[in-house]
Amino acid sequence: MAIQTFVHEQQIGVEQPLLEIVNLHAGYGIIDVLHGVDLTVERGQVFALLGPNGAGKSTTLKTACGQIVPTSGSILMSGKEMNGTPPDVLSRAGVCLIPEGHSVFPNLTVEENLRMNTYSGTNFDEVRERAYTQFPQLKERSKQRAGTLSGGEQQMLALSRAISTDPALLMLDELSIGLAPIIVEELYEQVGQLAKSGLSILIVEQFAQSVLGVADVAAIMLHGKILKTGDPENIAEELTSAYLGIQ
Ligand SMILES: Nc1ncnc2c1ncn2[C@@H]1O[C@H](COP(=O)(O)OP(=O)(O)OP(=O)(O)O)[C@@H](O)[C@H]1O
Ligand SMILES: [Mg+2]
Repeated sequence: MAIQTFVHEQQIGVEQPLLEIVNLHAGYGIIDVLHGVDLTVERGQVFALLGPNGAGKSTTLKTACGQIVPTSGSILMSGKEMNGTPPDVLSRAGVCLIPEGHSVFPNLTVEENLRMNTYSGTNFDEVRERAYTQFPQLKERSKQRAGTLSGGEQQMLALSRAISTDPALLMLDELSIGLAPIIVEELYEQVGQLAKSGLSILIVEQFAQSVLGVADVAAIMLHGKILKTGDPENIAEELTSAYLGIQ
């Protein structure tokens, strides 16, 4: 019960950050990947977690959505400890991850993909209306199989499916992968609008450029640790040094 209520606390103005990760250690079996990660996402904030291949960005997201159980440290949502909470419970509580790659059902049409999100009782007409209002391009392709959509359209559909669950925290893992810069810019404009409507968003990207326009805060991750957190413009400059190994 305590877990399910944290989404609603958003409306009654609880002060704690939506997501707070404190000294998080996690990995895969005996392989340690995260070595004491600290990050905080405030309500309605867009937080960009940046860093090179293998830094531990995806592992951080997987741990935050319950797919990986931390070995130590804390994951707090609205001040409540969530360590060890199963992913389905977190999902119902408003935590939503769009993982790396396009998370749509390729053999189902756009509409069927949207319908898949309504089996827990959400109204299909509302889900469809919301998706097509946010991304009119999807409406024109409603009967097309998702696997034949362009990469950008697939990400639009993935975002539409995500917002149909009315999440409190949306986590996006490399939304920009394989997409043209202009498409990425359009997608992140939409993401910015979602944040303005009160959603908290944690974005993982390798490069800062694509998220600069939309992020409120950015952090650099390297070797399983957060190296620096701050203003996205400043972090973008530091990121180059992180890639070149100059610290
Ligand atoms: N399932 C797994 N089993 C074992 N090790 C893994 C597994 N997934 C990831 N790793 C390792 O954990 C480390 C961090 O990986 P992670 O996917 O979190 O990096 P990342 O920052 O998301 O990188 P990228 O930008 O390439 O997606 C890497 O060294 C990777 O090899
Ligand atoms: Mg990754």
